Amino acid sequence: VSPFKRDAVASGTYSTGPADVASIDWDNLGFGYIATDYMYMMKCDQGGTFSNGELQRFANIELSPSAGVLNYGQGLFEGLKAYMKEDGNILLFRPEENATRMQTGAERMCMPAPTVEQFVEAVKATVLANKRWVNQVPPPGKGSLYIRPLLMGSGAVLGLAPAPEYTFLIYVSPVGNYFKVCLLQEGLAPINLIVEHELHRATPGGTGGVKTIGNYAAVLKAQSAAKAKGYSDVLYLDCVNKKYLEEVSSCNIFVVKGNTISTPAIKGTILPGITRKSIIDVARSQEFQVEERLVAVDELLDADEVFCTGTAVVVSPVGSITYKGETKKYGGGGVGAVSQKLYTVLTSLQMGLTEDKMNWTLEL
Ligand code: COI
Repeated sequence: VSPFKRDAVASGTYSTGPADVASIDWDNLGFGYIATDYMYMMKCDQGGTFSNGELQRFANIELSPSAGVLNYGQGLFEGLKAYMKEDGNILLFRPEENATRMQTGAERMCMPAPTVEQFVEAVKATVLANKRWVNQVPPPGKGSLYIRPLLMGSGAVLGLAPAPEYTFLIYVSPVGNYFKVCLLQEGLAPINLIVEHELHRATPGGTGGVKTIGNYAAVLKAQSAAKAKGYSDVLYLDCVNKKYLEEVSSCNIFVVKGNTISTPAIKGTILPGITRKSIIDVARSQEFQVEERLVAVDELLDADEVFCTGTAVVVSPVGSITYKGETKKYGGGGVGAVSQKLYTVLTSLQMGLTEDKMNWTLEL
């Protein structure tokens, strides 16, 4: 029995019929927020059990000024995408991975979390209620429906303590390319990074390895400065040695040398990306050797290619990296062959264009 009320959809004026398609300029869509029809809300009291989740019309939410999330940053978020297949069915990509990552993050942030089943069912219900916002314009690949689950301490606190009530919320927005850059080949555009060697994103024993909201506020200063200088984003180094690559503000990083692809190992300061994990498996299936290890910033000088991975950025080839005033270029102004190959294999699977031998997609 579904724990969710679908009455909002069933009794509302909203229709999921094929003619009901939102008008979106997919060719010119970036990664900005567009309000959609429905969001999902589920609360949890001090008992720690989430219940009575329901779809509601998308709207602002009410929070006490004393809510734990507003005062002490007790919050997590997730990100995943839905694609529409040519037959009109919708595909989700590994949603249970987001559910378990939220549980891990919740444990670190002293919050209760929805069960994996509650999470996945809520994502399904939210996507179906907003079906008219999923890209239905061929060719596929121009955009997707981005799904943003949130978990927050919504109960009021004043002294520092875990909040007495939690809210799980999901909203969705149609999105196109994450970085504002010129597309060279379908879906792909090289980005320009700058290595930050003074400000850090995470510390050993901190929260860098979970998707807590404060991690993303912490990168805004360096990111804004980098963007003001014309860079796409910032690549962070470890804070102890100031030598090893960690991640980019919103994505993981991979360095290609010959047939070997290296990426920083997960050790508590790096977000364990679901696209990262999937690309490692895809690359191994394509006969690349993949190493998860400490990757020194100097290795960037010898690399043949560099690319980033993340739900929002998918696979983004890196065109150049600047470190202490010196710039190293990759891909000869174009998209590197390895980045292109891995992008194509992964997105074909996510969009249902190739057989899903990995059993990663969930069809709605
Ligand atoms: C994602 O890739 O889904 C993320 O959560 C990164 C976010 C900053 C857009």
